[in-house]
Amino acid sequence: MANLIKVKNKIRSFNKVITVSGDKSISIRWVLFSSLANGVSTARNLLISDDVLATLKAIKTLGIKYKLKDNECKIFGKGIDGYNYKKKLIINAYNSGTLGRLILGLIINTLNPIKLIGDKSLSKRDFKRISDPLSKFGANFKLRNNNKLPLFIHGTKTLKPINFREKRGSAQCKSAVIFAGMRTNGVTTIRAKKSRNHTEVLCKHLNLPINVKSKKNHDLITIKKVNKIKSLNYNIPSDISSSSFFIILTALSKNSELKIRNININPSRIGVVKILKKMGVKIYFEKKKIYKGEEIADIRVKNTTKLKAINCPQKFNSQAIDEFLVIFLVAAKAKGISYFKNLEELNQKESPRLIWASKILSKMGVKNITTKNSIKIFGNPNLKIKKKIIIKNFLKDHRVFMTSVVAALSFGGSWEIHDKDSIKTSFPDFLNIINKLKND
Ligand code: S3P
Repeated sequence: MANLIKVKNKIRSFNKVITVSGDKSISIRWVLFSSLANGVSTARNLLISDDVLATLKAIKTLGIKYKLKDNECKIFGKGIDGYNYKKKLIINAYNSGTLGRLILGLIINTLNPIKLIGDKSLSKRDFKRISDPLSKFGANFKLRNNNKLPLFIHGTKTLKPINFREKRGSAQCKSAVIFAGMRTNGVTTIRAKKSRNHTEVLCKHLNLPINVKSKKNHDLITIKKVNKIKSLNYNIPSDISSSSFFIILTALSKNSELKIRNININPSRIGVVKILKKMGVKIYFEKKKIYKGEEIADIRVKNTTKLKAINCPQKFNSQAIDEFLVIFLVAAKAKGISYFKNLEELNQKESPRLIWASKILSKMGVKNITTKNSIKIFGNPNLKIKKKIIIKNFLKDHRVFMTSVVAALSFGGSWEIHDKDSIKTSFPDFLNIINKLKND
């Protein structure tokens, strides 16, 4: 079957309740923490996507067993020193930056070199941002071209704690250093620009020796040696990043309304909601609760005809980093010129997403001025597409695919969107839910 979809019609108005799959960041972290716990950990509603399956495969390579049935998973941890570092191990992170980067912090004590590889997209991404701080602990790295995969990591038993300043707002860098810090005799300190904090929340929930002081634009984190991690049973909440495609489809579809159940609304992840509210989207949290330190709620969203342009405050950048592509579609329909700046990190994702945003918007006939770290979008409240648009992303970026589907269903035109399989990395259920919204 062809690996593409054709969309020829706008979606009709809908009023539905949906559930999206488990949060990717939390699913990957649950697997990693559980792999070092003492005893059996169980997760329900684990995201079953290629990124998470790659994480399970990685811990298996390290000698940790797991059982997976539907979306319930059991991991049989053997304790903090339970990894079996055989000679000539190869870990394949496939498409997952989170797996590839976080696991380096955990295997930093390997005395046999481990080779880390990834797919075409991951092999284009920067790993120096991880090898630099992790080298300071005492590990040795060899990277292709000094910054890319494949890489080799060769650890040591005598790891030294470090002081690290994380300036990009990268949760992956911060988390890798926290994990490495758990393996040293001493105190590792991190001054991290704000970014998603699921690793810290899990450390606290597990009573690990972490301390986090929250400042206005950064966090001061200390982490000490961890001797034991208790097993971790977890009901994974749904993913706000996956929800965003439906939130925005609803915002752009006349007379539509949607409720999405049980979503993780960790304050470090809800930039998309804050940005959309500022743009005039009617969006509400209902039935808020706290679960193992994470905030959860149902989200209700209603269509509005009055969308406003935004000069997007930079403080939302890291909180909405995975959602910008689809947020730009709202800017395309808003009245006025929207401006998003200091977004150089967007070009460091599965594909250079700022460049892709500009390509998609230009194909849609939306004027935009894009630089290497910013985009100005000239919105048109009457935007209607009549022409044929083909989207073929050679790096197979799942978010480029899903954003294009939302654009096609919101603005019309005749779209041919390639690389349908890319949704398997983060959200295999995406097209099933789209079909559910279509069949009223
Ligand atoms: C993630 C962090 C973000 C995000 C990625 C998931 C995580 O990457 O884009 O999809 O789970 O830690 P960066 O840390 O590179 O910003």
